[in-house]
Amino acid sequence: MTVSATTPPRTDDDWWRSAVVYQVYVRSFADSDGDGVGDLAGIRERLPYLRDLGVDALWLTPFYTSPMVDGGYDVADYRDVDPLFGTLTDFDTMISDAHALGLRIIVDLVPNHTSSAHRWFTDALAAGPGSPERSRYLFAEGRGAHGELPPNDWESIFGGPAWTRIDDGQWYLHLFDPAQPDLNWRHPQVRAEFEDVLRFWLDRGVDGFRVDVAHGMIKAEGLPDVGFSTMTTGQRQVDLLGKARLPYFDQDEVHEIYRAWRPILDSYPGARMAVAEAWAETPQRLARYIGPDELHQAFSFDFLDATWSADSFRKVIDTALSEATVVGAPTTWVLSNHDKQRHVTRYGDGVEGLRRARAASLLMLALPGCAYLYQGEELGLPEVLDLPDELRQDPAFLRTGESRDGCRVPIPWGGELAPYGFGPAGSELSWLPAPATWRALSVAAQAGQPGSTLELYRAALRIRHDHPALALGAGPVTWLESGPGVLAFSRTAGDNVLTCVVNLSGAPVLIDGYGEPIVASAPLTGQGAGHLLPVDAAAWLERR
Ligand code: NOJ
Ligand code: MG
Repeated sequence: MTVSATTPPRTDDDWWRSAVVYQVYVRSFADSDGDGVGDLAGIRERLPYLRDLGVDALWLTPFYTSPMVDGGYDVADYRDVDPLFGTLTDFDTMISDAHALGLRIIVDLVPNHTSSAHRWFTDALAAGPGSPERSRYLFAEGRGAHGELPPNDWESIFGGPAWTRIDDGQWYLHLFDPAQPDLNWRHPQVRAEFEDVLRFWLDRGVDGFRVDVAHGMIKAEGLPDVGFSTMTTGQRQVDLLGKARLPYFDQDEVHEIYRAWRPILDSYPGARMAVAEAWAETPQRLARYIGPDELHQAFSFDFLDATWSADSFRKVIDTALSEATVVGAPTTWVLSNHDKQRHVTRYGDGVEGLRRARAASLLMLALPGCAYLYQGEELGLPEVLDLPDELRQDPAFLRTGESRDGCRVPIPWGGELAPYGFGPAGSELSWLPAPATWRALSVAAQAGQPGSTLELYRAALRIRHDHPALALGAGPVTWLESGPGVLAFSRTAGDNVLTCVVNLSGAPVLIDGYGEPIVASAPLTGQGAGHLLPVDAAAWLERR
């Protein structure tokens, strides 16, 4: 392929529309001080790796002051860095180095709940029922003759009731862990506080925010029952999400919050953006979070949820593309994050899972819009399924038996001994242990190795960045004729056509008709009689 000399640099205001964003789970990325926990200085040291990988931006999971009950999604001080991760000065140095390398920084904002260690919550407990301090959260009297039953039937996403009773008899709402009390977003002080927190980080130079539980801040007036409980049905209430509107999610009033935030983002130079982690009943309702007067993006998790079949992928891709067109916003694609089983394992684990994961990644990176990568997927890391229970830290584990720790194991950078270069030389500590099989998956083990997953990502990201048919999100998706179980689409810019073919059928397929192969997730066979794309593989081909 030819690199067009006219490919515009990615400095324009629409950078986020076609960016590749790399999610850094801060605790598990790189540990600079040898305490076994990743930190901001560790990220700073690894910025050249990320630049060379070819990503445009980083999304950092919460690094704020926190008791770490939910890995930092329980924030005690929104304007400071937890000592575990460093200092504000470390943040400033890291972001200035990132910008110097052309990498943008997106930080996580956790507005639905604070930590129970947040000053507002400790004040609320001390101040007593009916106090102004309690009104910033959702305190309520219980039901039953003596208030011994929770105020309503809402369930925590982490299992069990969403209410906890305190000594004076009142209950408070926590959609997640009891250590994560929900804020009352109808309180003007809450709104003012978060507008100020946005400004605090925008002033420090952040390029955007990932908004945690963006669909959850407003609860239906009167806190009505759902009328469906795990106790009576055996099915979790949260599983209704996507099938019905829950009184604590996706309430219309939540959009007022984003309409107030957008002018703040727009008032800063350099195209600052926000992406919603939102879950809604339909793709149409999800699309309401994005647009010129609300947020810039909302994660489309349907792609991540698609099963390994051509029909399943085709359906979610078409839906996401058409919804995005309706609101004039770019689509977002994501295959893995810190809450979901890694895609290698979701697609079958082992050799088959890795083959499919590599193919799915090529599929994702050929689509228009913004792609979110999760640290370690470029190494083909699988989920760690056999962590000892006593080491698991996910608060959901104790309540539901399900744990997200297996996708949060520290990144292997190199070396012979665990944790494979996660910390400084000689450091043996890591907050979760890396399996012995990860020695061969480390960055050092894969760098420069033809056929490695790391080199596949590097090649694909380079082409995505430079190829006229993919660069800056150019060219819509045009589906091509293909056999059953095969996905084929092209992207076109002028005379340049790039075609992506994914073989989800049970037999190799001939792909020569689509052009000259430029990258493939598995070696192509049959060179003489024409290129064959093996089963569970994807290739990009170009025609000019
Ligand atoms: C979504 C985050 O991704 C997850 O890790 C966290 O547990 C919940 N929100 C609660 O903040
Ligand atoms: Mg550390």
